[in-house]
Amino acid sequence: MTAPNLLVIGGSGLLGREVTRQAQRQGARVLATFHRRRPTISGVQWRQLDIRNRHEVTALIQQLRPVAIVNAAYRQSDWATTADGATHVAAAVVVAGSRLVHVSSDVVFAGSAARYDETCPPEPITPYGAAKAAAETAVRRLDPGAVIARTSLIIGYGHSPHEKHVHSLASGTATGVLFTDDIRCPVHVADLASALLELCRSPYSEIHHVAGADDLSRYELGVLIARRDGLDDARLPRGRRAQTGPPGPWRCLLPVVSVAAPRPLLRAPPFSAADLAQTGRRDTVRHPADVADVPLGVVPEASPP
Ligand SMILES: NC(=O)c1ccc[n+]([C@@H]2O[C@H](COP(=O)([O-])OP(=O)(O)OC[C@H]3O[C@@H](n4cnc5c(N)ncnc54)[C@H](OP(=O)(O)O)[C@@H]3O)[C@@H](O)[C@H]2O)c1
Repeated sequence: MTAPNLLVIGGSGLLGREVTRQAQRQGARVLATFHRRRPTISGVQWRQLDIRNRHEVTALIQQLRPVAIVNAAYRQSDWATTADGATHVAAAVVVAGSRLVHVSSDVVFAGSAARYDETCPPEPITPYGAAKAAAETAVRRLDPGAVIARTSLIIGYGHSPHEKHVHSLASGTATGVLFTDDIRCPVHVADLASALLELCRSPYSEIHHVAGADDLSRYELGVLIARRDGLDDARLPRGRRAQTGPPGPWRCLLPVVSVAAPRPLLRAPPFSAADLAQTGRRDTVRHPADVADVPLGVVPEASPP
């Protein structure tokens, strides 16, 4: 077995699969983990891992000692996975000396401010948000050199839960509404994966916001997805989050140009609504040689502020 230089934890998930694919295309030796579903991506080594188990996590990371680790594992309703699991990973990474990029979420915020940059303190209002905030605190405390990449709603290739939900609503096989008052900065999974790999190679640490360029409600995003996919957007039911249960309205905007990094992180233009509206454009192969020029483990000079 060739020693991997990149470990993708949660490699079987929506984001983890894309990080794994892109890294592999760029020539990285990737080992990815799954918990319940083992995907097949040729050339990738797979290992089953339960990040709730501290000993399993420590043993894997100690054995591999990869140059970089992307942790994209979580389970929304499980504190032990999302918070404790992230803590186990960060503790093992420090001992192994690897570079950690930990994926976090805009749900650490309450959604009541005009816009959130990296200096804003977390103020979670849901159990999931609290678990992600706890994970961030643990990662920062245990490994100050780690990057925490906070992102927003992820879509891409029709595989995301939001895209599937839009299809089900448009075809009448699901009930529910798309909120007009739940506003995020959706990001394409390919852009996000590309940014995470760039962060692996960067000299940055601490929190970075990596999100799409546009503020979109779930309903507006649903309409764009329906049009892209040739569905009748008039069939999409809309509603207000404020009237349906979860605390709301919710407006969680992450600026595209991170205040933590002196230049935009994404070399490719960030995902925008205009891209989505053009049928098919976003979901063709788009990242041929995006970040292939810097090998893992080589940290480029920081750009002047
Ligand atoms: N999706 C979004 O819109 C969104 C928005 C903001 C932030 N994020 C963040 O982005 C990251 C990735 O999200 P995603 O949408 O790619 O998630 P996902 O598709 O649900 O994938 C989650 C991954 O975590 C793994 N996992 C779950 N429980 C585990 C455990 N106990 N031990 C080890 N691995 C476990 C899953 O493995 P199996 O599938 O094999 O069980 C899977 O690989 C997460 O940190 C999430 O908080 C996501």
